[in-house]
Amino acid sequence: MINQSHIIGTGSAMPERILSNKELEGIVDTTNEWIFRRSGIRERRISSNAKEESTTNLATKASVNALDMAAISPDELDMIVVGTVTPDRQFPSTACMVQEAINADKAAAFDVSAGCSGFLYALSVVNNAISCGTCKTALVVGVERLSSIINWRDRGTCVLLADGAGAVVVKARPNRGGILSNHLKSDGKFWEFLHASDGNTYLPATLKDVAKRPFHLKMQGNPLFKRAINCMSEIARDALVHNNLSTNDISLVVPHQANMRIIEALAKNIKIPMEKVYTNIHKYGNTSSATIPIALDEANREGRLMKDAHVLLVSFGAGLTWAASILQWTL
Ligand code: COA
Repeated sequence: MINQSHIIGTGSAMPERILSNKELEGIVDTTNEWIFRRSGIRERRISSNAKEESTTNLATKASVNALDMAAISPDELDMIVVGTVTPDRQFPSTACMVQEAINADKAAAFDVSAGCSGFLYALSVVNNAISCGTCKTALVVGVERLSSIINWRDRGTCVLLADGAGAVVVKARPNRGGILSNHLKSDGKFWEFLHASDGNTYLPATLKDVAKRPFHLKMQGNPLFKRAINCMSEIARDALVHNNLSTNDISLVVPHQANMRIIEALAKNIKIPMEKVYTNIHKYGNTSSATIPIALDEANREGRLMKDAHVLLVSFGAGLTWAASILQWTL
C-alpha cells in the first residue's frame, strides 16, 4: 500500500519586535493609510540580532512547536526540508543548522530556494519521499528574515516584507487523506521581477561597491501583482480539477500573504467567499516562504481546520514560482 503524508503537528515563531505602519512613516515617504489600502498590512515583525532571532533560531522555535504538537521526538525525523531565501549562511543549509539545534540525528537535511513558494515546494519534496517509501517522518519549514536584505530606503518593498517562521511535521500513514496533491510551476523568464542582486557571496571590489548595497532585494511590484493573481488562480483551479473537487468542497484556503488585494482577487476568480480564506497579512506582512506555514499553524490553533476538511494552499513568488497543494485535514 502507498503511504499517505499526514500533517501531524504545526508550529510557528515570530520575532518580538512589532513595526507599525505609523513607525514606517518616519523611515520612508509613506503613510499608514497608503500601506493599509494598497496591501492590507497594518504591522509586521522584524527580527533582532540581540534577541537571537536568526533564521536558524526562528526556524528552530517553529519546529519545536510543531514537534511538541505532533508529540514526536526529533530523533524520529528522517528528513528536514527548509524553504528559505534568507539563510544565515550561504552554507551549510538552514535545515542542517536546525538539525543540530533540535538533535535530529537521523534526518537528511537540506534547503529549497523557491521564493515565496519555498514551503509548498518543500512540502512536495517530502510528500514524494513519503510516497516512495524513502521517508517516514519529516519536518517541513518555511522561514525568512527578509529584513536582512530589505532596502530600507525603498518604500515600494520595505513596507511589505518581514520576518517569521512556520513548520509542520509530516508522517507516513496508510490511511486516506493528508496531502492529496502538489502542483508546482516556475517561469525563469521573469526572474528579474523579484531578486537579490548578487546574493550573499558577493565580494565587493571596492568600498564604493559596498555602498550600493548589492544584496538588497529588488522588486517590480506592478507586473508581479498581475501575474500573482493569474498564476495563483490557474494553479488553484488545476489542483481542484486534479482532485475532482469544486470550491464548495474546500473548507479553507490558506494563500500566500503578499497583498490583501491579490488574495481578494484570487478568491473572486476561483469563486470562494472571503470567509473561507485565512488571512493574517494585517499583522505579519509578507514573510515569503513562511506565510503559509504560519497561517496554517494559526488556523489550526484557532480551530479553523476541521477533521476531514479539504484545505487549499496556494503560493506565488520569486523565480517566478507558484504552487498549490490540497490537503484533507486529519490532525
Ligand atoms: N507609500 C506611498 N506611496 C507608494 C509606496 C508607499 N510605500 N510604494 C509605492 N508608492 C507609490 C509609487 O511610487 C507610485 O507612485 P506614482 O504613481 O507617483 O509613480 C504609486 O504609489 C503606485 O505604485 P504602484 O507600484 O503602481 O502601486 P500598486 O498598486 O501596484 O501597489 C504593491 C504596489 C507593491 C503593493 C503591489 O504592486 C504589490 O503588492 N505587488 C505584488 C507583490 C508581490 O506579489 N510580490 C511577489 C510575491 S511575494
